Amino acid sequence: MNRHQVVKQIKDEGNRQRLVDPPARNLSQSEAWWARAKEIIPRGTQTLSKGPDQFVDGVTPKYLDHGQGCHVWDVDGNEYIDYPMALGPVLLGYNYAPVVEAVTREIRKGTTFTLMSPLEVQLAELLVEAIPCAEMVRFGKNGADATMAAIRIARAYTGRDHVAFCGYHGCHDWYAITTSLNRGIPRFNAGLIHPFEYNRPQTLEAQFALYPDKIGAVIMEVPAEDPQENFLQRVIDLAHKYGALFILDEICTGFRWSLGGAQEYYGIVPDLGCFGKGMANGFSISAVVGKKEFMKELNDIFFSMTFSGETIGLAASIATIGEIRKKGVIDYIWQQGKKLREGLYRIKGELKVDVEIVGHPPRSGFVFRDALGNESLDIKSLFLQETHKRGVLFGGPVYLSLSHSDEDVERTLDVSYEAMSIVKKSVDEGSVDRFMEGQKMGAVYRSRR
Ligand SMILES: Cc1ncc(COP(=O)(O)O)c(C=O)c1O
Repeated sequence: MNRHQVVKQIKDEGNRQRLVDPPARNLSQSEAWWARAKEIIPRGTQTLSKGPDQFVDGVTPKYLDHGQGCHVWDVDGNEYIDYPMALGPVLLGYNYAPVVEAVTREIRKGTTFTLMSPLEVQLAELLVEAIPCAEMVRFGKNGADATMAAIRIARAYTGRDHVAFCGYHGCHDWYAITTSLNRGIPRFNAGLIHPFEYNRPQTLEAQFALYPDKIGAVIMEVPAEDPQENFLQRVIDLAHKYGALFILDEICTGFRWSLGGAQEYYGIVPDLGCFGKGMANGFSISAVVGKKEFMKELNDIFFSMTFSGETIGLAASIATIGEIRKKGVIDYIWQQGKKLREGLYRIKGELKVDVEIVGHPPRSGFVFRDALGNESLDIKSLFLQETHKRGVLFGGPVYLSLSHSDEDVERTLDVSYEAMSIVKKSVDEGSVDRFMEGQKMGAVYRSRR
């Protein structure tokens, strides 16, 4: 049904009955793989945010088989329009020809060698050209490699061990100790890591006051909201005033807010920057970049891995950056993200559902609120359930790609209208549970601060 038919049906039925369910999907292959995985893979998944507890267990498919553009097919053959886009990396689209061709050329030549590849130099030069703070570059495979390296650089340069942080930065010891998933990490790490709050510079200043001459790194990501009152520059100034380096974690914003990331978008120059996700359209590569004076510390820091110069990620990133430039990708994902957001707000206005679309058009997210105004994962679970049943795979973040066409956005809005109509009914009736067909989603971990 499209939005207009839904409105008619709701009117015809006096809004009393349940909306017609879409045809049932077979999810038996997903469940069969999961039964095997649970026995031999701890927590069943390699990436916590992809596990069944992050979606609606019993309704969301558990395993995907392939993708094309922004569409994905689960292992039972059901098709979806994808919005997490692999949690952000797939900026152009799945099976995107120019990147696949660039990678295939390298695969045929051999993908990792006894000596270095010139692609390392080529990609480093491209990043130096594109990213404001990048004078030197080193590569890793995951975002956590880059943030770990950046923290080591700052600690080495300043001779200080303490870190002030704001946001999420990966699974290594120094950050994971701040979460509820902190087993196996030496406890002393907890005493070295201090949180501060976005858009509240006084919370950073308070940490400098509590730990004078101890904090060597201030690391942050730019979350959903825009910085207020020159917040980013104020954080840089505070870091420098108190003798720390400023690291901008651009794992989510890089190659998305603009080619040069949030630093280019907001016109700031951090000391160091961390990039990953969108830089290679789904192939594995990350980068720590920064000013020469600081990056030179890596001459004497142990940051070396077998696969960090592997040519697949390098070639994919070079091809991806070429496409971003050639196809005007950044403008396009802003534009499509705006269309989606405006459509969702029209639906919200019409149905009076308490939902906010937070973040920027290229990467946003849903925040549903209950009758008391508290954020509700239960209501979000119902929304996800109803969109997944209708072939739109929403999850945590909503990432737009070059492959999200107007037709995809329109279809998503039709499906969202149906899903929000059901959300509205559940809220009016005061019971999400009555509408749930699977298990509601939970949080990946709890922050301990
Ligand atoms: C802001 C930020 N920093 C760091 C990371 C860690 O990246 P990865 O999971 O690739 O190690 C993430 C991952 O989601 C992230 O969002």
